[in-house]
Amino acid sequence: MENPKEIVAKSALRYITSGDVVGLGTGTTASEFIKALGASPLSKEVTCVPTSLETESLAKRLGLNLVSLNSVERIDITVDGADEVDNNKNLLKGGGGALTREKIVAHYSKRYVIVITEEKLVENLGSRMPIPIEVLPFSYVQIIRELNQMGLSCQLRKNFTTDNGNYIIDCKPNQKVLKGSLQDLNKAIKLLPGVVETGIFINFNPEILYHKNGQVLEIK
Ligand code: 5RP
Repeated sequence: MENPKEIVAKSALRYITSGDVVGLGTGTTASEFIKALGASPLSKEVTCVPTSLETESLAKRLGLNLVSLNSVERIDITVDGADEVDNNKNLLKGGGGALTREKIVAHYSKRYVIVITEEKLVENLGSRMPIPIEVLPFSYVQIIRELNQMGLSCQLRKNFTTDNGNYIIDCKPNQKVLKGSLQDLNKAIKLLPGVVETGIFINFNPEILYHKNGQVLEIK
C-alpha cells in the first residue's frame, strides 16, 4: 500500500512536461515527488534546481540533471511540501530547515505546486507547528529576546545548522498573534537585523494538492 505522502506527491507528476526546469522541494513529501520523477521517463528530459543539499544528494542518486538557480533563466514549476496551509493558501514552511532556499526558488517559479496530507490544512498558520525563522548565529540570542517581546515564544532549534550556515528559531505565536495579520507579523520579523528569512509564505499563489481518504484533491 502506498502511503498518503507518496500518493499526493506522485500526482504532481502530471504537471511536468518535457523540457521543464523543475524546482525540487525539501522534506519527506517532496522526496516522494523526487523519487517518482527519478523513476519516470521524464527524468532524462527535465533539468532540476534543488532547494537543499539533502534534496540535491537524493536527486543526484536518482540520476536527475541538476543545475544551480543562477544558471537558469526561469523555473517552470516547483513541487514542494509544507507544514501548514491556511484558507487563503498562505503556507508555513521550514520544518526541515530549508525555508530560505525554498522561498527563493518559489519566487522564481512560474508554477508552484504544494503537496500535503489533509491534516496540514489549518485555520491559522502557527497553530500546529511553530513558525521557523532563519537567523545569523551572530545575534540569535538578541533576536529571540525581541521575538519573545512580539508575542512569540521562541526556541533555538537544537543541533541544527541550515545549508546557509545559519540557525533556526522556532516560534509559537500567542493567541493574539495567531489571530492577527500575517503580513504585519512577517514584516515585523523580517525587519529585525540578522533575520535571514521566515517560514511564512504569503502571496505565492500555490496550487495545493492534498491527500484525503485515499484521494488527491486540489485547491486552485
Ligand atoms: C522543509 C519544508 C517542508 O516542505 C515541510 O517541512 C514539510 O515536510 P514534510 O513533507 O516532511 O512533512 O518546508 O523546509
